[in-house]
Amino acid sequence: LSTTEIDISAIQVGQAIKTSWRKQPVFVRNLTPAEIAEANAVPMSDLREPQTLADRTKVGKENWLITLGVCTHLGCVPLGAAEGENKGDFGGYFCPCHGSHYDTAARIRKGPAPTNLVVPPYEFTGDTVVTIG
Ligand code: FES
Repeated sequence: LSTTEIDISAIQVGQAIKTSWRKQPVFVRNLTPAEIAEANAVPMSDLREPQTLADRTKVGKENWLITLGVCTHLGCVPLGAAEGENKGDFGGYFCPCHGSHYDTAARIRKGPAPTNLVVPPYEFTGDTVVTIG
């Protein structure tokens, strides 16, 4: 079985980490209340792949945004998970390869990527432990 356990206890509000699962980059982000509000304020009609933040997170854990760090265009690793990196025009992630911008729910908003960053299968297996896979 290919699962990865991640200790998220040290990820502060507003911070993200890069980890990996099955040799793919994974972003784990602790969204701020403002980022959550921003994601929830977006009309579904503005979205290329309409999904709410709630669709992409676990109940009661909407601040934990866990996605593959793989651009859905041609597979580059987007920026925005590390401090000081360009988060793009929508405050989430930015793929510099061809200019795809993802929002604070990691949904595609601008650029060539066809779909949102993928949410991998995962569960909270402790208060501060997430198991991916
Ligand atoms: Fe990300 Fe092309 S691979 S925009």
